[in-house]
Amino acid sequence: MKVIVTRRLPESVEARLAERFDVELNPSDAPFGREALGEAMRRCDMLAPTVTDRIDAPLIERAGERLRLIANFGAGTDNIDLAAARKRGIAVTNTPGVLTEDTADLVMALILMGPRRLGEGERVLRSGRWRGWGPTDQLGRSLAGKALGIVGMGRIGSALARRARAFGMEIHYHNRRPAADAEARYWPDLDPMLAAVDVISLNAPYNAGTHHIIDAARLARMRPDAWLVNAARGGLIDQDALIEALAAGRIAGAGLDVYPDEPHVDPRLLALPNLVLLPHLGSATLESRTAMGEKVLANLAAFAEARPLPDRVA
Ligand code: 8YV
Repeated sequence: MKVIVTRRLPESVEARLAERFDVELNPSDAPFGREALGEAMRRCDMLAPTVTDRIDAPLIERAGERLRLIANFGAGTDNIDLAAARKRGIAVTNTPGVLTEDTADLVMALILMGPRRLGEGERVLRSGRWRGWGPTDQLGRSLAGKALGIVGMGRIGSALARRARAFGMEIHYHNRRPAADAEARYWPDLDPMLAAVDVISLNAPYNAGTHHIIDAARLARMRPDAWLVNAARGGLIDQDALIEALAAGRIAGAGLDVYPDEPHVDPRLLALPNLVLLPHLGSATLESRTAMGEKVLANLAAFAEARPLPDRVA
């Protein structure tokens, strides 16, 4: 069975893929353009794409008859039109669970970097503007005793709650259903939680129901000294509204690891001082990316052997 992998994966994963399948790797690692992606989807049995491949309904409709599985290298599957895949009888799998701890670490890092002004501090030092220690220089805000509001209490949200508790934060969350975390305060409605917490972290999947879940009205509900952190998907936030809120000082700041149209980063974001910006690094460790590759491999192997798919989402 022919497998096309759209990006280069950790070496050990590529070696195991090559042992098992007739695998075609992307020699340049540059994301496929739309045409190359469509062409790949016409000449393989299984495709292993990543977040940089937008597999929409027209591409799926034009896929070859032989394409039977899309094994996404990533937990989020918003890059794939799942309904269109279902309609064409193409199975879709993802890589949940194995990137939870590393992604939660990165969210915690954003929470530390913002209120403690660490990104800003590094920028000051590297630019040669640091004039030495001062008793009132670059004062941030403490995390201990503050309230963290988690939007989306799934695997990553829960792992974040564990970390934030160790920093002395009180945990609040909004989710469709109450989670098993008895010590955290559940808010069935998002709006009142936004006004009650000091830091908000978005940890929900991106779909039609969560598009712009943080918009101008919701930013207006946040406290003026609150921070917003997003390491899930850029489309969860109305970015224009966020830029306006930050520029006007209506919230204290934000930390972003994801953007609506990656790799494009709105230049207005770069000009804002009260903002920490990272380049989609949530799961970027050798351990997580290797484990994600192993999950892709397990799904491909199950499909090839006509066994139930371990991580089927469509
Ligand atoms: C990946 C992610 O970097 O798994 C996800 O949903 O956002 C990241 O862990 C990316 O999706 C890889 O395709």
